[in-house]
Amino acid sequence: MRPPSPEGTPAPRGPPLRRLLLVLLLPRLVSDAHTTPGTSSSATRPATPSSPSLRERARALMRDFPLVDGHNDMPLVLRQFYRQGLHDVNLRNFSRGQTSLDRLRDGFVGAQFWSAYVPCQTQERDALRLTLEQIDLIRRMCASYSELELVTSVKALNNTRKLACLIGVEGGHSLDSSLSILRTFYVLGARYLTLTHTCNTPWAESSAKGIHPFYNNVSGLTSFGEKKNGGIVMVSLSSGVLQCNLLANVSTVADHFDYIRAVIGSKFIGIGGDYDGARRFPQGLEDVSTYPVLIEELLRRGWSGEELQGVLRGNLLRVFGQVEQVREASKGQRPLEDEFPDEQLSSSCRSVLSRLHQTQYPSPYQKLTEISPEWSPKQSLSKSLPIMAPGLIVIAACSVLILWFW
Ligand SMILES: *[C@@H]1O[C@H](CO)[C@@H](O)[C@H](O)[C@H]1NC(C)=O
Ligand SMILES: *[C@@H]1O[C@H](CO)[C@@H](O)[C@H](O)[C@H]1NC(C)=O
Ligand SMILES: *[C@@H]1O[C@H](CO)[C@@H](O)[C@H](O)[C@H]1NC(C)=O
Ligand SMILES: *[C@@H]1O[C@H](CO)[C@@H](O)[C@H](O)[C@H]1NC(C)=O
Repeated sequence: MRPPSPEGTPAPRGPPLRRLLLVLLLPRLVSDAHTTPGTSSSATRPATPSSPSLRERARALMRDFPLVDGHNDMPLVLRQFYRQGLHDVNLRNFSRGQTSLDRLRDGFVGAQFWSAYVPCQTQERDALRLTLEQIDLIRRMCASYSELELVTSVKALNNTRKLACLIGVEGGHSLDSSLSILRTFYVLGARYLTLTHTCNTPWAESSAKGIHPFYNNVSGLTSFGEKKNGGIVMVSLSSGVLQCNLLANVSTVADHFDYIRAVIGSKFIGIGGDYDGARRFPQGLEDVSTYPVLIEELLRRGWSGEELQGVLRGNLLRVFGQVEQVREASKGQRPLEDEFPDEQLSSSCRSVLSRLHQTQYPSPYQKLTEISPEWSPKQSLSKSLPIMAPGLIVIAACSVLILWFW
C-alpha cells in the first residue's frame, strides 16, 4: 500500500507505506485525527527559534539513552535496488533512501528493529519465501558491518556498544497461517510480528479500513491502541500514517506525542520511525539522523528527561523484558500444534498432504506424500483421488481431523 497523497489518490511510485509497529510485543496504532495542522496547539503558538541549550540537552540525553527504534525498512530498499545484494553497496554512506549507518549514528540510534516486510499481494503466494529472504538479508547485513550486532534478547540489546540489530516481521500474511512458521521466525531471530499490514489474513483483520485514508473512522487511539496489557505504542513518523498534509513538521509529530501521552501516559510510548517505509516524512524529520530534532521539540514542550528516557529506550526495554518473562514462565507448556483449517484457506498454491490415522498407516516407511504422486496443489486433489487407493479413507480422516481442530 502506498502513502495516501493529500488528494486521497494513491501516491505515485515509492516504497509501500508500512503502518507502524505492532510490536512483539504488541502495540501499534497511532492515529490521531485531532492533530490537524493548523488547529493544533503548537501550530497556534509562535514558532520558537531553536535553542542551542535545548538542542544540546536533547543530544546529551540521546548519548546517554540511545534510541531503540522499532521500525525501519531499509531491507526493502536493498531488495528493490540491489536484489538483496550487499556486495556493491556501502551502507555507511548509503544514499538510496532515508537510512545509512552514518545517519543512524548521527541520529543517536542505539538499536534498530529492521523490518522483514513483503507486500500484502504476496499473501497466499510466496510471502514466506520472500520473508525468509529478507530475514537472511538482515542477518547478513548485521554480520558484515563491524559497527552492527544482531541481538535477540533484551540483555544483549542493552549491553552491546554497537548498533544493535533486531528483526521484526511485518504482517501476519508472512506466516501463511502456520504457527510452525511463527516459531521458526523466532528461531531465526525475529522478535516481533505485526498482526496485519494493510490486508486481512485468514485470522486477523487489518486495521486499515478501506484503502484511503487510513483509519478513516478513528479519532484517536482505538481500543486496541489503549493501554490494556502494558504494551507500548511505537509512534510512526511517516506523514501518511500521521494523516497530515504536506506541511507536516516536527510540531505535528509532537502534537501526536502530546496526545498519546494524555491518553495512555508517557510510559507506554516508543518510536517506530518507519523510515524507508514511506516516501513522505515531516519537514525537519526527513531521515534517521533527525531524531534529536524531535526530542528537542518534546523537551521544549515540557517533557521531562525521565519521560524521554522511557520514550527513547526504557519503555521498550521494559516491555521486551516482560515478554521474555512470559516466555520463561511458559517454558513448561507444550507448543501449540493447532492448525488452521484448510478449507478456510483459499490458496490454490497450498499442498494438502495426506493424513492417516495411526491404525491405517500402510507401511512403516512409506512417506505420506508417496501415497499420491499428484498430491500437490489443493485443486488437483479431486483429480488424484481415483488413483489413490486409500484416498477416500484419507479424505474421511481429513475431515474428521479438520472437524476436530475446528
Ligand atoms: C510547523 O508548521 C506550523 C504550521 O504550518 C507552524 O506554525 C510551526 O511553526 C511549524 N513548526 C516548526 C517547528 O517549524
Ligand atoms: C561512500 O564511501 C566510499 C568509501 O569511502 C566511497 O568510495 C563512495 O564514493 C561513497 N559513496 C557515496 C554515495 O558517497
Ligand atoms: C540497561 O543498562 C543500563 C546501564 O548499564 C542499566 O542501568 C539498566 O538497568 C539496563 N536496563 C535493562 C532493562 O537491562
Ligand atoms: C466507526 O463507525 C461506526 C458507524 O458510525 C461506529 O459504529 C463505530 O464505532 C466506529 N468505529 C470507531 C473505531 O470509531
